[in-house]
Amino acid sequence: MRVVRAKDYDDMSRKAAMIMAAQVAEKPDSILGLATGSTPIGLYKCLIKWYEEGILDFSAIRTWNLDEYENLPRTNDQSYYYFMHENLFDHVNLPEGATHVLNGMNPDAEAECAAYDAAIDAAGGIDIQLLGLGHDGHIAFNEPQDDFPAGTHCVELNPMTIEANSRFFASADEVPKRAYTMGIGSIMKARKILIVVSGKDKAEALKKVLCGPVTPQVPGSILQFHPDVTVVADEDALSLI
Ligand code: F6R
Repeated sequence: MRVVRAKDYDDMSRKAAMIMAAQVAEKPDSILGLATGSTPIGLYKCLIKWYEEGILDFSAIRTWNLDEYENLPRTNDQSYYYFMHENLFDHVNLPEGATHVLNGMNPDAEAECAAYDAAIDAAGGIDIQLLGLGHDGHIAFNEPQDDFPAGTHCVELNPMTIEANSRFFASADEVPKRAYTMGIGSIMKARKILIVVSGKDKAEALKKVLCGPVTPQVPGSILQFHPDVTVVADEDALSLI
């Protein structure tokens, strides 16, 4: 694992965006795995700015997102589909049909998830997967549990994640209780992984991910076994290491 130390959130965003931008420049038809959440927003802003300045071209890029809430319409401003359009897709020249977000409204979870994995494989696999890190060490919606789930699947969200995500909803009651997510196996298949982490509240989780034992109780710890991971974290997030 390579660890890139950033001063603060803005510095983390810029440094991580440079890694994404290099991928897009080096391989203009790259397959990007994308994440939602607060942490990547600054990175997406940098990519948009560099697109507007003519530095980046997304016309041959395709994207697959990590996860989506179950049963939340795409028009809901808390759906990850909506988030991605707001924070990236609507601001760069990604062609219609090039972006993929799990359809949480499909009641047949198994079929939805299997088709998603098959589509990624058929496209040639993910070149670079962007991740954030949950306070309990989760990546995508893979929560601490007894095993490492392989492919895309439907999960029950744990109370800590529901509580953390309730900041975006009127109340915790409104946060969906289930989600569709890429599995640990799907994430580990990506050729490169870029994980962004910011803030003192993530320091404990990041320490476990980087220095602790590899265990499904800290899902992100599996990244220690991936051959090409770059962690871009700010000083606060790295404060316990
Ligand atoms: C988002 C995702 C989640 C977040 C994680 C951290 O697509 O899969 O695992 O990356 O919950 O979220 P933030 O960045 O909001 O702290």
